[in-house]
Amino acid sequence: MAPENSKGQYPPSDEYRETAFIKSAEEFNTLYEESIRDPAAYWAEQAENLDWYSKDWKEVFTWDKKENRFTWFKGGKLNASYNCLDRHVKNGKKNVAAIIFQGENDDHVRVYTYGRLLYEVERFANVLKSMGVKKGDRVSVYLPMIPELTITMLACARIGAVHSVVFAAFGAESLYNRVVDCTPKVIVTSDGNYHAGKTINMKAKVDEILEKGTTIEHVVVVRRTGIETDMKEGRDVWWHEEVAAVPLNCDPVPMDAEDPLFILYTSGTTGKPKGLLHTTGGYLLGAYTSFRNVFNYRPGQIFWCTADIGWITGHTSTVYGPLALGATALMFEGVPTYPGRDRYWQVAEKWGVDIFYTAPTAIRTIRQSGDEWVKKHDLSSLKMLASAGEPIDPDVWRWYHRVIGGGRCPISDTWWQTETGGPMIAPMTGAFDLKPGSAMKPLLGIQAAIYDEEKNICAPGESGNLYIESPPPSFARTIWNDHKKFVETYWTAFPGHYLTGDNARMDEDGDYWLLGRIDDVISVAGHRLGAAEIEAALISHPAVAEAAAVPMFDDIKGEAIYAYVTVKDGFNGTEELKRQLVDHVRTTVGPIATPKVIHFAPGLPKTRSGKIMRRILRKVAEGCRKEEIGDTTTLTDPGIVDTLIATRML
Ligand code: WTA
Repeated sequence: MAPENSKGQYPPSDEYRETAFIKSAEEFNTLYEESIRDPAAYWAEQAENLDWYSKDWKEVFTWDKKENRFTWFKGGKLNASYNCLDRHVKNGKKNVAAIIFQGENDDHVRVYTYGRLLYEVERFANVLKSMGVKKGDRVSVYLPMIPELTITMLACARIGAVHSVVFAAFGAESLYNRVVDCTPKVIVTSDGNYHAGKTINMKAKVDEILEKGTTIEHVVVVRRTGIETDMKEGRDVWWHEEVAAVPLNCDPVPMDAEDPLFILYTSGTTGKPKGLLHTTGGYLLGAYTSFRNVFNYRPGQIFWCTADIGWITGHTSTVYGPLALGATALMFEGVPTYPGRDRYWQVAEKWGVDIFYTAPTAIRTIRQSGDEWVKKHDLSSLKMLASAGEPIDPDVWRWYHRVIGGGRCPISDTWWQTETGGPMIAPMTGAFDLKPGSAMKPLLGIQAAIYDEEKNICAPGESGNLYIESPPPSFARTIWNDHKKFVETYWTAFPGHYLTGDNARMDEDGDYWLLGRIDDVISVAGHRLGAAEIEAALISHPAVAEAAAVPMFDDIKGEAIYAYVTVKDGFNGTEELKRQLVDHVRTTVGPIATPKVIHFAPGLPKTRSGKIMRRILRKVAEGCRKEEIGDTTTLTDPGIVDTLIATRML
């Protein structure tokens, strides 16, 4: 057992250190100093790890700070699917597993070697071509965690189409908002999906949005569950029939490094989700480099990231990172608690998983079930653990280390965002004495800093706003259709510095501790949800006059949704209405947005300019007393605060 040292830190074992990409803090420090002295030189050197058709970039990095536009390797040509498939096939990995698919049903297993995956991608790329999809066209993807999802993404990349994956558990309204924004020609979906023993109809949701009117001309449907499915003649086709009817070969299209690879939506502070645009060269290089540096992946190992591909963690850590490196990634369709609370451990044991990457919320759920569920399984294949999506509390970290990792597996707490494309802050597990709860240091080539409101660097121990100092290759270039919003959201608070929207502090050793969001984004089980999206859903119910959603503490999900609702005249805040509102949010936004509390309030605290004072609503939801609420004198009706406290629903 690698013991905790006298400072409560966890040094790697010598055995692990030997296998690591970076083996000591000194080695890291030297490489880091070098990498940030000249980031362009560092990234240009890393770019040698990808296969390029041409490296004719005039400049490695350009940054127009006035327009907030930046480029990496512009003029260089490559193809992401070539880098994830063909080059491995050519380099002796044709028969090495690329994806191991484990379905929710334990018997549903498919293993794709690099050779087979390439074959499937080429065929599906030809299907897209046959539908008239060309370079630059968008393709929406609304699929559960099945191999066709990865195949679709890589098929798009192969022909230069831009994929936009929408999380399969999003409801019709959320799907619609994401689809109308990026105007796709084609959507790829499935008849249904399996979720915790239930079969959910997905195609019906697609039909619902198509009725409202979209740019979609073709719907490709994967037969996953076999449920009855309405297929509209001339518009809807079955995946298996289409792939059988096209030629087998499809050459990859050389793309400029700055050509778009995908759009992925994330919730922001307004109701409209933001479509972050990622580009081919920079994103892929970031995915490759962070995957190699963070996970110390060795050939033959099995890497499992439990995140759904509908989120950035799945894009980078199940698809592009592992495949760019030629690794073997497990893709899991199910949930951690079905059919039993040991499902993750049963799967990890079954496949001999080496590296396991999940979110703190999953660890908290599993911990709550008790250690015996874990102990039923032999987890000795595990070498390393990792976490992403929200702060991991030290206690949960220690449990993860001791019970899941058997006291021998280091944990990398990786901090990143949809916007950053790949991990930015994460410990080098072979080099550092790990601190439970700290993401520790920025990765090679990444510069971070914490500033206070006056833009002074925070002293150690002081918390402030986390910024990334200059955009590394993997950063999103813009928000699709809305560069103005991109500038306002990230580059205006402190021009020339990227505002992450997270609070953080640094300790005396220069290690980072993440403290959560500073804006109106609620992180439910590590999934980013905009307060505004939930409010919009509530307000769309006929009984609701006004609504405000704020985070509340939840010991499993980290944060849960506390919603204040004022009803229209003629309606009453009954238990029945509460149930209706919860159902309404579940169907419009999706089950992840289920409010934990609905608090019927006669009014909301507002400033004289009519702005809802969320700060106060958060405090009331947290259970603060009147004296802890702070200044309420700017409110039009300060008395409302007493009413809210008196009627607080817990
Ligand atoms: C939070 C997920 C603390 C953070 C990769 C960030 C984290 C948001 C961590 C991005 C971490 C992510 N520690 N907080 N290790 N990783 N976050 O876009 O608030 O889905 O801004 O990307 O998750 O969420 P997103």
